[in-house]
Amino acid sequence: MSGDHAGNADRTDAYDADARKTAEGLAYLSGFGNEHSSEAVPGALPHGRNSPQRAPLGLYAEQLSGSAFTEPRAHNRRSWLYRIRPSAAHPRFTRADNGALRTAPFAESVPDPNRLRWNPLPEPAPGTDFLAGLWTLGGNGDATQRTGMGIHLYHANSSMRERVFSDADGELLIVPERGGLLLRTEFGLLHAEPGEVALIPRGVRFRVELLDASARGYVCENYGAPFQLPDLGPIGANGLANARDFRAPVAAYEDVEGPVEVVNKFCGNLWRATYDHSPLDVVAWHGNHVPYVYDLHRFNVIGSISYDHPDPSIFTVLTSPSDTPGLAGVDFVVFAPRWLVGEDTFRPPYFHRNVMSEYMGLIEGAYDAKAEGFVPGGGSLHNMMSAHGPDRETFEKASAAELKPQKIDDGLAFMFETRWPVTATEQAAGASHLQRGYDDVWQGLERHFRN
Ligand SMILES: [Fe+2]
Repeated sequence: MSGDHAGNADRTDAYDADARKTAEGLAYLSGFGNEHSSEAVPGALPHGRNSPQRAPLGLYAEQLSGSAFTEPRAHNRRSWLYRIRPSAAHPRFTRADNGALRTAPFAESVPDPNRLRWNPLPEPAPGTDFLAGLWTLGGNGDATQRTGMGIHLYHANSSMRERVFSDADGELLIVPERGGLLLRTEFGLLHAEPGEVALIPRGVRFRVELLDASARGYVCENYGAPFQLPDLGPIGANGLANARDFRAPVAAYEDVEGPVEVVNKFCGNLWRATYDHSPLDVVAWHGNHVPYVYDLHRFNVIGSISYDHPDPSIFTVLTSPSDTPGLAGVDFVVFAPRWLVGEDTFRPPYFHRNVMSEYMGLIEGAYDAKAEGFVPGGGSLHNMMSAHGPDRETFEKASAAELKPQKIDDGLAFMFETRWPVTATEQAAGASHLQRGYDDVWQGLERHFRN
């Protein structure tokens, strides 16, 4: 029989739980990168050692390494899991259909210097869960070299049932745009609504249950170094995303005997195996390689109080560093509600050509550089050195505006900004929801030059 032993909830059936009630009642551990510990049953966590001769309560001890053993302490990530069965107890994996998932390197299509913009994904077929609903837009680098990233969208109308997913190719930064999610992970349960983000570390098994009729959003699959908080430099000890606002789960486990499909993404392909038990059977754990959620509304936005506005790096929530200081494999950047007060300043984002490549999405409302066409659930790709900036209508309006203090409060946009050009997949380059006339937003920018 099955049972769901959450540290947060009474015993409920694993697959028939009232997901929203469970999600809204969750407790969390606070902080980013902490050495957390949690046990769903008192006494399950060994004290004073990681791997005692016999782990408490008959559990198996297992380490999950998110970094090489020998990486510097500041970058070292691992957790110890105390589980009903060790992860090694599984049958052989066989290849599964990749669906619309694609993985770098993207040799199937040619990198495109054109500015591209998409409408939201179309409605999925009935019974599409989070995993089946993943659709790859593009990416860069090489998953097998642990560099670069994949950009995915998802659109689902069903919870994952009797199956779990894990991604050996990278960590998954999930950005819901429509519909709440309950994420049941090896470490416990997380709740993410639109406006929040969830991160599932590389290799961690999880299942996504929907809290609404459908769910839609974005995923950055980061093949590179794990996301970390950016350095703050002269900003000081506080600001941007504050560490205390990140929430990790408390231990919760499933004691489920019965067939569970486990899907593993490995070097670009999906592999599946049918376990005779749920692998979400971790009763206690400690470590710093953990999933977490973060509410983007908690982001402490910093900007100019004199003139101009800082580069959008000031909006960085999380960064995946590369071996070159300051040059990110990918930055996750949010354009959150904020005041604009700059004097003698063109206030919308400036015209720009960038060695970095920019994929933008919209979670809610509108974005201050685009009067129309950039809609929640859609996205735009401005690749390396492609010229972009405000559309004609926005430029004319902002150039003539009276510069009173102005609150930008009706939008939540984000960016995956990356050091390498992004190649769109064949399915994205040929999608029916690609906006063929995107270049037109910069048509009609008038000549104002007088000499
Ligand atoms: Fe830009």
